[in-house]
Amino acid sequence: MAASFLQAIIDDTSLDAAVEAVKLAVDHLELSASEAVPVTTSASSGDLTARFSAALPRTGRPLAEVMDRVARDVAADSILLSHPMYLGHQVSAPLPAAVWTEPVISAINNSMAVREMSPAGTALETALIGHFTRLVGWGSDAGGTFTSGGTEATTAALMAARASALPNAWEDGVGANPPMLVCGEHAHYAVTRAAGILGLGRRNVVVTASEGYRMDPAALRRTLDRLASEGRRAMAVVATAGSTPTGSFDDLEAIGNCCAERGVWLHVDGAHGASALISARHRHRLRGLELARSLAWDPHKLLLMPLSAGMVLVREEGDLDAAFAQQAPYLFHGADGARVPDLGVRSLACSRRFDALKLWVAIQRYGLDGLEACHDHLVDLAGTLHQRLARHGGFELPHEPESNILCFRWRGSGETSAESLDALNLAIRERYNSSGEGWITTTVLDGRRMLRVTIMNPRTAPGHLDRLVAGLAATASAL
Ligand SMILES: Cc1ncc(COP(=O)(O)O)c(C=O)c1O
Repeated sequence: MAASFLQAIIDDTSLDAAVEAVKLAVDHLELSASEAVPVTTSASSGDLTARFSAALPRTGRPLAEVMDRVARDVAADSILLSHPMYLGHQVSAPLPAAVWTEPVISAINNSMAVREMSPAGTALETALIGHFTRLVGWGSDAGGTFTSGGTEATTAALMAARASALPNAWEDGVGANPPMLVCGEHAHYAVTRAAGILGLGRRNVVVTASEGYRMDPAALRRTLDRLASEGRRAMAVVATAGSTPTGSFDDLEAIGNCCAERGVWLHVDGAHGASALISARHRHRLRGLELARSLAWDPHKLLLMPLSAGMVLVREEGDLDAAFAQQAPYLFHGADGARVPDLGVRSLACSRRFDALKLWVAIQRYGLDGLEACHDHLVDLAGTLHQRLARHGGFELPHEPESNILCFRWRGSGETSAESLDALNLAIRERYNSSGEGWITTTVLDGRRMLRVTIMNPRTAPGHLDRLVAGLAATASAL
């Protein structure tokens, strides 16, 4: 090995070198929060592609120079999630204590696959998972692991459901007549993706009707009865707690009872909304969650962790072990039937980051009370926005907010056709976002184009929402 390489490592293992990176991150967060710059870059995708198309260097440069380039060429043209007018997708303005834990996680670099590779990490993650399963209302048999996010968590949970319905699927596959998955109209694509990954096939996902953007329990009953009468077996029902389009919560009590009566696995996709469990004011929305067999919950959404931090939780830890009936004598040494502390036996991933640490640090720093106050603030703001839009009068409001997500639509003059209003709403979003003043998203509800806001930043205040309403109305009038 070249002496210069070793010297570079020695130089970079110093506080002076680390400060370069940390200063860049601090500058980025401060600039975002200051509102002194547009929410996102105006650079074109062509310019950005060209920027990184040069051949990779054969020889290195001092870290300070590289970080300068990161500041100029990457951070400056990134979307600023800590800007209070960032009101877009469900990605957080990350909590600083968790951000500063990221380099610690990387420096420790213990893999969560096996306890011997992460002695303290496995103990900490297991304890944190235990805390959250108790919050769900499950007993001491419950368990789970951290995941890369909600999509992985739902896939892992549905693998556990598959193992329960088809214990031989791991060896034999699912056969020509696989069991069905049932989900609501507004389920995240994680469900159909899992159906593909699990070999069930997307055609074996049955979508059951909604009422007010929530799964209709009566329609679910009819769907399950129909499947039974056709001789088709339901492998799992997937309910959503905090749906992607509107943040709505399915009635978990009614759905849970319906599944329990029929012996069907209930998975709850709480990637977005399960964090309401930490809130005294909002946990009622998850009433009945304890009836579920599995839960996806993303701390990188409403617990404001930097990407990524998800969790898959199961009522019976053994179900998750059964999902991955993996023999790997070079890694897993557990005696048959004995509980193994290694989290890798119940995880889709092998090598896995110690993401639990940043959540644990954030809880130590801000306390559960701090995270609860933050959660409630974000949800309250969606209510405030709903009121402000209603007071303005120029917008249709298809739903009351149940979480920090709100959909709405510019109403137009009353003579404009629904199709023209679809196009107009899309154009409003494009024009408003490119102004740099704020940044929102869009979706389709009931076949109509909607504007959509998710409030993920504790720095956002009611005054920012006034600016949003005024900005969107002005953009609509200009168009
Ligand atoms: C309800 C729901 N489930 C799952 C996901 C996917 O989560 P992730 O992006 O962490 O995989 C999302 C993301 O928006 C979501 O809203």
